[in-house]
Amino acid sequence: MSNNGAAGQRDNYEKHLSAPLPDQGENGGRKKMEIEIREMGVDDIPLVFHLGEQVFTADKTPTLYRTWDEFEVISMFNEDTEYCLVAALEGQIVGFALGNVVTKKKSAWKYGYLVWLVVSPEYQRMGVASRLFNKFEDKMIEAGVRIFMIDTEADNLPALHFFRAKGFVNPQQHIYMTYNPAATEQQREKKRSLRGKRNGTEHRRSG
Ligand SMILES: CC(C)(COP(=O)(O)OP(=O)(O)OC[C@H]1O[C@@H](n2cnc3c(N)ncnc32)[C@H](O)[C@@H]1OP(=O)(O)O)[C@@H](O)C(=O)NCCC(=O)NCCS
Repeated sequence: MSNNGAAGQRDNYEKHLSAPLPDQGENGGRKKMEIEIREMGVDDIPLVFHLGEQVFTADKTPTLYRTWDEFEVISMFNEDTEYCLVAALEGQIVGFALGNVVTKKKSAWKYGYLVWLVVSPEYQRMGVASRLFNKFEDKMIEAGVRIFMIDTEADNLPALHFFRAKGFVNPQQHIYMTYNPAATEQQREKKRSLRGKRNGTEHRRSG
């Protein structure tokens, strides 16, 4: 998937990024953002993990929260290093994109799956994710990918807006469910005991 007018769009985002940030200096000075988009290195692993931990919270993105852990970062880094990108600013990681190429037997098509895309809340709406995505897209296209895939929660509006803005279309509904065997057994037990009590009462009434 390559968007029409992508070059123009990229120029816009580059402009965003070179624009000064709101005041962050001591004396009213303005700090210029120099974010570098590069491949993730082994030293970035803990920083990426902690940024994800900060962003994927149980209340806002419960499914992403459940599936995010240090092994996820390590395994994606091990298996698909070239598709693990970070946005770095002065030794800090302010964003990352982790993905892989999905191939299917008996199909010449390759799919580019962007599994995780995160920008630190302080740096959102400055074009950081766009820059990460642009680099990811270039690498995937170089690898022969023709279709890109993402998934996220249906009410994750910033992400949905972002992906639509990048040209993603055709959202398909997908339901996640959870099952807790211990809690389910407790509920079943409660129902059985209520039913037992009710039956006991009925026996007594009719007896
Ligand atoms: C989704 C996310 C990565 C976007 O990062 P970002 O750096 O803020 O995105 P950009 O600045 O590159 O935005 C590009 C365009 O996407 C759209 N967009 C991004 N965030 C948006 C928001 N909160 N509301 C509406 N549109 C939004 C806009 O069209 C924006 O262009 P504009 O700022 O010129 O209007 C970021 O919100 C995030 O990290 N969210 C939490 C993690 C997450 O849910 N990731 C996705 C699932 S893994």
